[in-house]
Amino acid sequence: MCGIIGALCDHDVQDELLGSLRRMEYRGYDSAGVCMLNGGSFQQAKAPGKLSNLERKLADRPLSGRIGIGHTRWATHGEPTIINAHPHISSSVALVHNGIIENHHELRTRLSAQGCTFVSQTDTEVLPHLLEQKIRQQELLDAWREMLAELEGAYAIAAIIRSLPGSLWFARKGSPLLVGRSAHGVYVASDALALAGLVDEVMYIDDHEWGRLTLEGIELYDLSGKPVDREWEPLPVAAHDAEKGGFPHYMLKEIHEQPAVLRRILRQYVREGGEIMFEHASFLHEKPLPKRIVMVACGTSYHAALTARYWLERYLKVPVEVDIASEYRYRDPVIGQSTLLVVLSQSGETADTLEVLRMFKQHTPENDALALCNVPSSSLAREADGLIELLAGPEIGVASTKAYMAQLAVLALLTLFMARRAGVMPEGSLSEHLAGLERAAAAMEGLLADTSAVRRAAEQFADVRGALYLGRGPCYPMALEGALKLKEISYLHAEGYAAGEMKHGPIALIDGQLPVVVIAPRQYHLEKVISNLHEVQARGARIILIVDMPETGRSANAACVLRVPEGDYFSTPLLVCIPLQLLAYEVACMLGTDVDQPRNLAKSVTVE
Ligand code: M6R
Repeated sequence: MCGIIGALCDHDVQDELLGSLRRMEYRGYDSAGVCMLNGGSFQQAKAPGKLSNLERKLADRPLSGRIGIGHTRWATHGEPTIINAHPHISSSVALVHNGIIENHHELRTRLSAQGCTFVSQTDTEVLPHLLEQKIRQQELLDAWREMLAELEGAYAIAAIIRSLPGSLWFARKGSPLLVGRSAHGVYVASDALALAGLVDEVMYIDDHEWGRLTLEGIELYDLSGKPVDREWEPLPVAAHDAEKGGFPHYMLKEIHEQPAVLRRILRQYVREGGEIMFEHASFLHEKPLPKRIVMVACGTSYHAALTARYWLERYLKVPVEVDIASEYRYRDPVIGQSTLLVVLSQSGETADTLEVLRMFKQHTPENDALALCNVPSSSLAREADGLIELLAGPEIGVASTKAYMAQLAVLALLTLFMARRAGVMPEGSLSEHLAGLERAAAAMEGLLADTSAVRRAAEQFADVRGALYLGRGPCYPMALEGALKLKEISYLHAEGYAAGEMKHGPIALIDGQLPVVVIAPRQYHLEKVISNLHEVQARGARIILIVDMPETGRSANAACVLRVPEGDYFSTPLLVCIPLQLLAYEVACMLGTDVDQPRNLAKSVTVE
């Protein structure tokens, strides 16, 4: 949730720390801080709120030093105030942390009894004091090892020690961390994007590993203190990946990238002749098909899984269970044999989803787990038995758009692949569906070329307090997703409902003030959706209708009609993504919210 950075260079690092924090701000943005070590003393600056507050502070009173750490925070313990902002400092240790120290209370009590003074309400503040105490008692490496052995919970840590200006320290358990190097310096960070433009090579740190960076190299250890040897690899992102490319918001840029993402996915996974290949999930090709599929995720990724359930059950005729990760992990699920777990995550670091994967691997090691993930270096991607990379490129807008579409596209290919292996889909239908997905990329471009109708539809939301989204079949989860998107970035209450379920309660909400977005493509029970539409219309709702056949729009008497090109069973949801995402975006812009960094949210939820 938070972003951490550390730098040790042959030059002043303040600007690099700030640049990295800027590229990581999507991880948390309720306060930020940096600390640098210069001439044997720590200098620090912190500010509540957005990073720009800290940048202003540092523009007035710059810090200097060749070694420093920085942090952008999403508060868990303690309000987002200056005092609670990281870095946290004892007399000789300065430290930034992402994660939660679960036994912080106990540690704080013990350290306070031993004379330490705490100033913040954070769990993190115990760390510099604990390390400080250990350093006084023993050799530095032993001190680190002992400190880490005492910690419960999750952490990614970067630290500097006053007496050692040539060493940058780090440790990881449960929260992502990597290190990087260039000819001029070494770095530690929460994600690769932070290091874009700074380093040529990176090394991903695994759980329970820790160590130190110097300008000469890296020392990496496991929890027992045994040295770990690992290769450096090329940095997987470029500096321009973190730019807006001329768009006013990352979210809009990412919505517009979707045709290219879809083409990339098809190019990567579909061979000439229509053969679908998942190179990094060889078990899908080699082992018998599963008798059951369990799909687990959070938020938008969960919605993508819900749509795929319709596809998979229809073609494979095997039961498909879909659950929210935070529920699944605590509900004693019955897993059984021949079950494929599919975990979906843009970031691959979502704590609950990761825990489900670990639990599944522990309880039923004989079953396979497949990750659908956008970050191949993430914990989820590395710990699963197979990976289908989403190939969406870095997603920086907190509201997920292109990664969602990529999940749908990859799930469509997975369904087609399994259906072919099961012998239930004739070659002819398979190539028709693949051609349908190819056409969807061009159709998306057409939709993105003229967004004026969506802008007009957004005006229907100018004076409202909430909205309802309705859909059926694979478009029911899309109604959930459309509502989530609106909620996240416009702060309007919105609910997604199965259109047929609406009269069992939510119909009571309907009046002339309630916009109802009805998703009504030809593919999924159109006539039934239309009769639901009449039910809400009869009660005076403002209808925003998403259709793919012009005649549906003409007969509906809706306040607005948003038309998408006609797709097939698999490509239709991909096309519907565009107006749903654009509508949320336009409403948020009209209401003047912070589209890319909506309040209270962070891109990657690495705590429970
Ligand atoms: O990285 P993940 O896909 O695992 O993230 C899951 C959710 O936190 C995420 O989809 C969240 O709901 C987004 N803010 C949606 O826009």
